[in-house]
Amino acid sequence: MNEKKHSLATRCIHGGRRPSPADCAVVMPIYQTSTYLLDPDAQADLEAGRPPASTFYSRMGNPTVAAAERRIADLEGAEEARLFASGNAASHAAVMGSLAGGAHLIASKFLYGGTQEMIKHVCANSDASVSFVDLESQAKLEAAFTDKTRALFCESLANPTLELADIPHLARLAHSQNAKLIVDATFASPCLQQPLELGADLVMHSVSKYLCGHSDLIGGALAGSAQEMAAVTRQRSHTGACMDPHAAFLVDRGIKTLALRMRAHCAGSLALAEFLEQHPAVERVLHPGLPSFPQHERARLLLKDFGGMLMFTVRGDDRAATAVLEALKLALPAVSLGGVETLVSQPAYTSHTAMTIEERRAVGIPPGSIRVSVGIEDPQDLIADFAQALDG
Ligand SMILES: Cc1ncc(COP(=O)(O)O)c(C=O)c1O
Repeated sequence: MNEKKHSLATRCIHGGRRPSPADCAVVMPIYQTSTYLLDPDAQADLEAGRPPASTFYSRMGNPTVAAAERRIADLEGAEEARLFASGNAASHAAVMGSLAGGAHLIASKFLYGGTQEMIKHVCANSDASVSFVDLESQAKLEAAFTDKTRALFCESLANPTLELADIPHLARLAHSQNAKLIVDATFASPCLQQPLELGADLVMHSVSKYLCGHSDLIGGALAGSAQEMAAVTRQRSHTGACMDPHAAFLVDRGIKTLALRMRAHCAGSLALAEFLEQHPAVERVLHPGLPSFPQHERARLLLKDFGGMLMFTVRGDDRAATAVLEALKLALPAVSLGGVETLVSQPAYTSHTAMTIEERRAVGIPPGSIRVSVGIEDPQDLIADFAQALDG
């Protein structure tokens, strides 16, 4: 079966694995085993000091994990994918795989806080270095490259400002400077965008979000060419940041409904964004699908739909935003995103708590900002919930 001939919704269900008479379970079973019988080839590889090609120890590979990896690789149009214990572990492997020998990394200044902290930690403890740059400023971006720059790291849709990276442009620039482009596409999911097809070298997902879809696990993924993935795979074996087979089973199950869920996330978030934009208590709404969104035209070009995330700012300050959160009856106040339930959080008290008010303003998060991960509830119920909370 050539899976590429089928639509993404079909590949979410059938991509990567076809049950056969030899492997007859329709659903990939959980291989709850740390070790495997050594076949003669694996024995020969071990004797020669090579890592065996076949499965032999679950830190290096596990059939349940591998099935989910093949499904993700298929959705991303990648030769290979690897699953990790968390999104941060996946980003860490991508960064470590790119920064050998005192290399330099350029990272978007709008990266998720946990990724920024991890990169700073890696650089503080090695001879690697990083520059955090506003990728929309061409002059600053070009000036940031040095002869040691080996990678550029961005989010396709930034958390929480939803700034949309111009991946084809960033890829051309990175490649012209002998650097690779790493894209965290967590907010987009494979339903909205394939960063590799737009020119990126590695795509990363926190699978804790849309790929899993039910807010019940922590995991990460990287996908790319076999050559790119070799360094990443070595890194995962060394750090032991492999995914547990139970989590991989849930990821694999989650992906089967990804296209269905993303359609509902996208429709619900646009309906809620349009409602919020006309509400008198709301100062500003950021949603890539609104014509008022600063990069709306770019979003129409680079995304297949506009995603399930939005950020809005209520009139007043962060206390006014807290009052709205407390008044919501359906949407739940919690960090994270991409699950079936609508979650609301205030970046000022969660992802961006280490910044001053002015620093937050400078990165596009004014007082009163609320991030919403729109779930798959009936949009009319969500709109009614936000209406009663905003009306006081
Ligand atoms: C955009 C983005 N990237 C990476 C991560 C880190 O993923 P994890 O929490 O699975 O380690 C997060 C977590 O919120 C995120 O929002």
